[in-house]
Amino acid sequence: MRKYDYAECIEISKRVRWDIDRDVIRGRTFDFSKKFLPDGISKVAQFDFLNEEQKRFLSQIQGRTYANMFGFVERFIVAKILEITRAHWLGDQVALEALVRFCDEELKHQELFRRIEPMIDIGMPEGYRFLPEPNQVAAAVLKNSTWAVLGLILEIELFTQEHYKQSIEADQDLSDLYKDVFLFHWKEETTHAIMDELEWPREDQKLTADERDRAVTELIGIVADVDGILQAQSLADVEYFRNALNASFRAEEIDLLRSGVLAAYRWQYIFSGVEHPRYQEALRSLITESQAQRINEALAPLLN
Ligand SMILES: [Fe+2]
Ligand SMILES: [Fe+2]
Repeated sequence: MRKYDYAECIEISKRVRWDIDRDVIRGRTFDFSKKFLPDGISKVAQFDFLNEEQKRFLSQIQGRTYANMFGFVERFIVAKILEITRAHWLGDQVALEALVRFCDEELKHQELFRRIEPMIDIGMPEGYRFLPEPNQVAAAVLKNSTWAVLGLILEIELFTQEHYKQSIEADQDLSDLYKDVFLFHWKEETTHAIMDELEWPREDQKLTADERDRAVTELIGIVADVDGILQAQSLADVEYFRNALNASFRAEEIDLLRSGVLAAYRWQYIFSGVEHPRYQEALRSLITESQAQRINEALAPLLN
């Protein structure tokens, strides 16, 4: 894989830069007669007992949660990347500018996701809840070592790109505005993963073998915490779906909805990032075989 540097990140950042109103929203509203998340991400096709209208609604609920998830993870991403800039304050000014642009973009992305939440709310029945509180989760994540937090950040930024390129871009039947939100988001995300790939090994060099081993344990703990969030939010989303539809599903269908949406969220937020070839390459270059095994053992139960 070709390696980029900070100067190229600045160049790309300048070239793709967009404005929330002028480029993304453009006075438009969400089209609720269309899906938000494509089937490749929402995995709604697995629910063969749902009709097309119900599948579309479930994709819109998942799409709303998906946008809210980005808005909240970007809270701790900015905090950590800002902290990392410190190492460049009196050094590489090109790296500093690239990382400041990274933070500036993530602040704008949070604003975009805050802006669209009420625009989605007006088109959906009452009762939706997004459970994670951004500042609380950010504070908990940031208690971990920088190495572990960078491991999480790279994972997130790789799946962001993967979802857009593999599923959202190709789907012609999504709400135009929803699709554009993630088109423009993706454009500015491409440099973020590159910078994470530069900063993670830099951080790694500061650690002793013992410190790195503890950081691996922390990374496993963070993934378990993420999974706790996914369990709670998937359950809330399924309850909202059932209440809003007022449909009577059989007990086994309710079980399938709960386990299926949780599995979809685990794929969206954990496995599509962890299994990304660039993630595996970055992680494997830093850890030992036995540490890789510890990570795999921790992830295995989440695949069920
Ligand atoms: Fe972002
Ligand atoms: Fe990002």
